[in-house]
Amino acid sequence: MTTTIAPSPVLEASGVTMRFGGLTAVRNVDLTVNSGEIVGLIGPNGAGKTTFFNCLTGLYVPTEGKVSYKGTVLPPKPHLVTQAGIARTFQNIRLFANMTVLENVLVGRHTRTKEGLWSALLRGPGFKKAEAKSRERAMELLEFIGLQHKADHLARNLPYGEQRKLEIARALASEPGLLLLDEPTAGMNPQETRATEELVFAIRDMGIAVLVIEHDMRFIFNLCDRVTVLMQGEKLVEGTSDVVQGDERVIAAYLGEPFEGAPGDEEVAEVEAAAAAAEGADASPEAGDAPAAPADEAPAGTPEAETEDAETASPEADAQGKTRTEGDSQ
Ligand SMILES: Nc1ncnc2c1ncn2[C@@H]1O[C@H](COP(=O)(O)OP(=O)(O)O)[C@@H](O)[C@H]1O
Ligand SMILES: [Mg+2]
Repeated sequence: MTTTIAPSPVLEASGVTMRFGGLTAVRNVDLTVNSGEIVGLIGPNGAGKTTFFNCLTGLYVPTEGKVSYKGTVLPPKPHLVTQAGIARTFQNIRLFANMTVLENVLVGRHTRTKEGLWSALLRGPGFKKAEAKSRERAMELLEFIGLQHKADHLARNLPYGEQRKLEIARALASEPGLLLLDEPTAGMNPQETRATEELVFAIRDMGIAVLVIEHDMRFIFNLCDRVTVLMQGEKLVEGTSDVVQGDERVIAAYLGEPFEGAPGDEEVAEVEAAAAAAEGADASPEAGDAPAAPADEAPAGTPEAETEDAETASPEADAQGKTRTEGDSQ
């Protein structure tokens, strides 16, 4: 599908295990993302997807295993991981609500600017030049995600879908070689989901490999070159979208009823009918200004309704508490 010449591993995670007391949230997971690839990570709530991301980005120190980026083992420290070239977005949006859209992107750039504290305080010529360059790049990224006209708005005033896009722009500001997206379309309407799909393709075309967690199966199978399925912390299946979509274990364990049997026209028709029915209800909360999109985003609504569960429980509280300190690692 991709036309990359000689793909090489960007990310190599091997034997990653994460235990919390008696609970093994991630067990011995290997995962590779090659240059030019979009890889999907799916699995039911509580499967360990976010925990695995946290292990990749140094937010958690894995109990066992190692993570390499372009052949170098990463120290489990968020800012070093970002500096190495991995950027991420969060399942629960972590923007600086009272900063402007542009400022949020600028925050993401700081790992790539050499100007230090003194230079910033003294506002010398070096700082001013670096700042002008950062702003220029930040505006380019806002243009890329289609939010340049809102550069001066406060982040908290953006509709939900735009906040998610802004998080992507902020992640891109660190000039990553690998982008990790944790449920980028959660809470989006079908039009926004479709736009996000295009955005992820465009990011890949910029030469950035992508690893994406999503519950929206249509989104995942459209987008991904390969998909890995986690179940109760373990890798259940891995393969191309076609292979995973048709895998009996995946169907039984995760995809469930709508995909039973061989996925084919019948299922597509069924899903599209459901999408058409759900569309009215789905579109209203976001008040999207785009005209009706093709009714093909059916799975978006239902499976995502439950995404909050895992995050409201105590587990994420840990990571949540770090929001302020880790925010700068973006
Ligand atoms: N910091 C933590 N402390 C204790 N348990 C955790 C922590 N983070 C995650 N867990 C547990 O690990 C399991 C996997 O959670 P998570 O990675 O959020 O799943 P997913 O993202 O696939 O929905 C869950 O049982 C969750 O409760
Ligand atoms: Mg999660």
